[in-house]
Amino acid sequence: MKHVSKKASLIAVSLALCSGAVLAQQQKNDPGKLEYDTNCAICHGPAGKGDGSLSDLLRTKASDLTQLAKKNQGILPVNRMYEVIEGKGVPSHGSREMPIWGRTYLVEDAQRLIEARGNYDSEALVRGRILMLIEYINRLQAR
Ligand code: HEC
Repeated sequence: MKHVSKKASLIAVSLALCSGAVLAQQQKNDPGKLEYDTNCAICHGPAGKGDGSLSDLLRTKASDLTQLAKKNQGILPVNRMYEVIEGKGVPSHGSREMPIWGRTYLVEDAQRLIEARGNYDSEALVRGRILMLIEYINRLQAR
């Protein structure tokens, strides 16, 4: 009997450890999601459906990002997304409501560059951040 209860407590402990591991896995840092939640969800909504809390206040409703592939014959329009997110060629005080992230990231990364006194390629860092976002938005697509 004593043996059984020892076994039972062992099972209980390992179950507790397992659920802890599952929890840790769920909370793993997902940089694309983090970036999206921090900078995009306020307009495009937590799941990308265009229903962020700021969206109703905009003249142009923020796009439903989950439909991008569906509306493009099932293929994510990566180049267009990249250009819209980067915003190259859009005047800084233009009429577009979608912020220009390329410039914001360049400024943020330049600041990091100064702080780190490193020899980073800041343009490459900006590209990396934009691609990370596109990869995350790809995971939000309605299929
Ligand atoms: C202030 C609100 C706002 C924020 C914040 C915002 N967007 Fe947008 N976004 C818009 C609006 C409005 C549009 C619709 C069209 C336009 O104005 O160009 C749009 C359009 C887009 C499009 C083009 C969709 C299409 O139909 O082709 C993409 C992709 C996009 N946003 C991604 C992002 C990402 C990624 C972020 C975060 C880094 C972000 N947006 C943050 C308002 C916002």
